[in-house]
Amino acid sequence: MPADDWALELRDVSKAFGGLRAVDGVALAVRPGERRALIGPNGAGKTTLFNLISGELPVTTGTIALFGQDVTRAAAHRRAALGLARTFQITNLFPSLTVLENCLLAVQGLSPVKLAMHRPLTRYPRQEARARAALDEVALGDRAGATVKQLSHGEQRQLEIALALAGSPRLLLLDEPTAGLSPGESKTMAELVKRLDPAITVLLIEHDMDIALEIVRHVTVLHYGRVIADGTRDEVRASPLVREIYLGA
Ligand SMILES: Nc1ncnc2c1ncn2[C@@H]1O[C@H](COP(=O)(O)OP(=O)(O)OP(=O)(O)O)[C@@H](O)[C@H]1O
Ligand SMILES: [Mg+2]
Repeated sequence: MPADDWALELRDVSKAFGGLRAVDGVALAVRPGERRALIGPNGAGKTTLFNLISGELPVTTGTIALFGQDVTRAAAHRRAALGLARTFQITNLFPSLTVLENCLLAVQGLSPVKLAMHRPLTRYPRQEARARAALDEVALGDRAGATVKQLSHGEQRQLEIALALAGSPRLLLLDEPTAGLSPGESKTMAELVKRLDPAITVLLIEHDMDIALEIVRHVTVLHYGRVIADGTRDEVRASPLVREIYLGA
């Protein structure tokens, strides 16, 4: 496939923190519309890899391309402008604001500091419509008026996805969307991710291989910063290395 047909293409990407190679020579190519899970044990380098893709951290070596454009040295906001959005492993919401207000801030790309100057947010009907559409996509439409504090943990994680969707991304990075959720909430989350617009490319970090394989067909396994397996459910499960170090078999 020609290089500019990939939604995301990493070549030989590494990140060193002092003497530690948290990400070590990773190659990854994701097709538009693909749903891929990134799995691996604690400290494997999954979140660091997301930070490199989104531009929160600079790479030590290698190149990153988004939709055919080299963004290796591009700032995070430029990558966002090309259609990249992400969620974080740790909740990143404003607890005293309502669900709709959180979402409007994301639509407007505002920081909470600027919020005071922009109140009332609902004076912007077009942006409010976009925010409400994003809430509907994650089944939170009827919770728009609740404050974040009033939401369950599962609903808060759904809201984080709505915030990422608010900018109409083409590539969505989800860092452990089921972290801390009950089995029932995890199932709701899995369904929600599966129902997202099929045009959106999704790269998803998941701890639990079974949950990952409920959502996606294609898995990349990281271990000590390296890709040790990459393929379909059956291919990854058949890898002796994966069985040994990831599944503890
Ligand atoms: N900013 C940093 N400075 C120094 N070391 C870091 C930094 N961020 C991550 N690390 C280290 O890099 C390694 C990979 O961490 P990372 O958070 O990417 O792993 P992870 O796969 O997301 O793990 P988890 O499943 O626990 O979320 C770890 O050894 C971690 O301690
Ligand atoms: Mg992590």
